[in-house]
Amino acid sequence: MTLGSGTPPPPHARGGERLVVETGVCLQDMNTFALAATAARLVRVREARDVAAIARHPVLGPAPKLILGGGSNLLLARDPAFLVVKVEIEGMRVLESTPQAALLEAGAGVRWHEFVRWSLAQGHPGLENLALIPGTVGAAPVQNIGAYGLDVAQRIESVIATDLSSGQTIEFDAAACRFGYRDSVFKREWAGRCVITHVRFRLPKPWCPLLGYADLDRHFSQAGLAHPDAHQIFEAVCAIRKTKLPDPAAVGNAGSFFKNPIVDAATRDDLGQAFPGLVSYPQDDGSYKLAAAWMIESCGWKGRSVGRAAVHDRHALVLVNLGGAEGADIIALAEAVRADVLAKFGVRLEYEPVVVR
Ligand code: EPU
Repeated sequence: MTLGSGTPPPPHARGGERLVVETGVCLQDMNTFALAATAARLVRVREARDVAAIARHPVLGPAPKLILGGGSNLLLARDPAFLVVKVEIEGMRVLESTPQAALLEAGAGVRWHEFVRWSLAQGHPGLENLALIPGTVGAAPVQNIGAYGLDVAQRIESVIATDLSSGQTIEFDAAACRFGYRDSVFKREWAGRCVITHVRFRLPKPWCPLLGYADLDRHFSQAGLAHPDAHQIFEAVCAIRKTKLPDPAAVGNAGSFFKNPIVDAATRDDLGQAFPGLVSYPQDDGSYKLAAAWMIESCGWKGRSVGRAAVHDRHALVLVNLGGAEGADIIALAEAVRADVLAKFGVRLEYEPVVVR
C-alpha cells in the first residue's frame, strides 16, 4: 500500500516468523534519560518481516505497543504496560544519484549521527546541519528532528513502515507524513499503529550550505571562513552542540524538553514590550516562535534542581537526570518550570518527548 505518490516500497516484507519475546527487560540503557523502567515484554525487530510477524501473531498482534528506537525522545514515567518493540533494522544504501539529487535509504535502527556521517563520506552532503542529534533514523521523521536551520522533513523522500494491524508495507511520501514543527502523523494518528522500518532521503544537488542560524554564522565569522564546505559545517555543528548540550552517555537527558511555543504577532508584540529581551523568530505564516530557553532562564530556572532532576546549567531547555532520578522527578521539575513560565509570560510550554505514564 502506498500513501501519496512516490516510488514503490522495497520488497522488505518477505514474511517468516522468528520472534523472541524477552521478559522483564530493564530499559535503563535504552532511554537517554537513563530512567530505570522495566518492560514486561520486549521484542527486537531486525527486519521488516519481523514486524509483519508481530502483526500476525495471535497474542502479540493485538497487544498495545510502544515502539522504541534510540529512546532519545522518551520519558518513562512508569513501567510501560505495552509490548515494547525495539527497532534494530540496520543498513544504508545509495538508491540513486543523478545531477539533480541523491536518493539514500537507511534502516530505522541505524544511529542518526552515523547515517549523517556515512552520507557525507559517500559524497552526498545535505544533512550536515543535523549532525550529532541522538537517536535513530527511524525516530527522525517521527518528531521531525531539526537543528541549525534545517528540519529533516526538508530532506525526506518517503517513510516506509509496516502496519501493525495488517502486516502490510506502507510508504508515506513527505506530504502523507504531514510534518510540522517536531510533529508528524507518526506522533498522532499512526502512533503505536505502525513501525517505521526504512527512511528514504532526497539530497538535492547542487549542494547549498545552510548558514543562516545565528550560532553557525557566529562560528564561521570567528573562524574567518566565508564559504565552509559540508564537512566543515558538520564539524561546526558537532562543536556547537558539544558546548551547549549534555552528552546523554554522561548525563541523562532527552535534548530539548519543551518545544519553542508559537504565538501570533500581536501576542509576540505585547510580550516584547513587557520583556524587552524576549527572543523570538518570525515564521513564514506571520506567527512567531519564542525561545523557550530564554523564558525558562529568565524565570531563574537555569542550573536549578529539584531532587535528582535539574535544568541543565548550559542550556535551559534541557532537563537532566543527575543520577537516580525517576520519571516522576523529571515531570515534577517540568511542571514547576511550566507553571513559572505560564505565570510570568502567559505562555504554556509543551513537552517535546513522548511520555509513558
Ligand atoms: N537561550 C537562552 N538560554 C539558554 C539557551 C538559549 O536564553 O540557556 C536563548 C538564546 O537567545 C538563544 C535562543 O535561546 O539564541 C535559542 O537557543 P538555541 O539556539 O540553543 O536553540 P533552541 O531554540 O533552544 C532549538 C531546538 C534544538 C536545536 C537548536 C539548534 C527545539 C525545541 N529545540 O533549540 O533541538 O538543537 O534549536 O537549532 O526546537 C531538540 O529538539 O532536542 C534539540 C536539541
